Amino acid sequence: MNHEKKTYVVTGASSGVGAALAAFLTKQGARIIAIDRAEPKAEMNKFINCDLTDPEQISAAVAAIDEPIDGLVNVAGVPSNMSVDMIAKVNYLALRMLTDALLPKIKDFGAVVNVASAAGAYWRKRTDVLNSLMKSASWDDALKIFQDQGYNSVVAYSVTKEAAIYYTMMVSSQERHRGIRVNSVSPGAVQTPILKDFYGSMDVNSLDRLRIHAGGRDGLAEEMCGPIGFLLGQDSRWVNGTDLLVDGGAEVTFHLGDLIRPAKQLSF
Ligand code: NAI
Repeated sequence: MNHEKKTYVVTGASSGVGAALAAFLTKQGARIIAIDRAEPKAEMNKFINCDLTDPEQISAAVAAIDEPIDGLVNVAGVPSNMSVDMIAKVNYLALRMLTDALLPKIKDFGAVVNVASAAGAYWRKRTDVLNSLMKSASWDDALKIFQDQGYNSVVAYSVTKEAAIYYTMMVSSQERHRGIRVNSVSPGAVQTPILKDFYGSMDVNSLDRLRIHAGGRDGLAEEMCGPIGFLLGQDSRWVNGTDLLVDGGAEVTFHLGDLIRPAKQLSF
């Protein structure tokens, strides 16, 4: 993986996965333009303060990126105990708006990586709503589709992550002629500040089951960085429009039921 002298825009770089990723890429010689509503604790090459629920602030953030970029990583997200509107705006609408704005500007052979979630794994069962979301070009129209479905916040969270995966596939060929790729990474549960919100709002039995099948613990933010870095760099140049599940193998149990060879407790 060579990120030397690359410039990446990273949203959500002030906490959790985004902060770990910014540190990981910086260590490998990359420049980071961080976008977040909270000030990062670590030093970034540039920090753009932006509330991703506000399209005007997103436009201003795009305008403030005044240097060539090699990639965009949409990490920012809010958990399933927030309002449906906030979940829709941060997890999907902002991700789409930023990508739509920056994708044509990314240098040849660059990449976009969208952080979705294992909660978005069942996108194939909702392609009608997802197609409507993709077709509604404006922020307000797409938001209205979310509002009209009457989802509770837990379902809305899953739908935004399904939409992130679906949108990733939809735009993955747009700049392909220039060697640019768009992929997503879907973490299982990760030990970051929002994990308690997931345990507080989602089905705890399911989360417990996933954790047991991953070997007895949830993932670490640092364990998301290699897969994201791989999809950003040229080692993955023939990987495009793909969702990479990074969950320690947990989700296998949802597809296969109880495993013939269940996980033993992790030794690391
Ligand atoms: P986190 O809460 O540690 O970090 C989220 C970051 O997004 C924070 O820096 C926060 O300030 C920023 N953010 C949130 N709302 C914003 C807004 N309106 N405007 C600007 N910035 C905003 O959470 P974590 O765990 O690092 O989450 C990163 C991504 O991973 C999210 O997209 C989340 O949905 C996804 N994910 C997390 C999992 C977990 O168990 N932690 C599981 C699966 C996916």
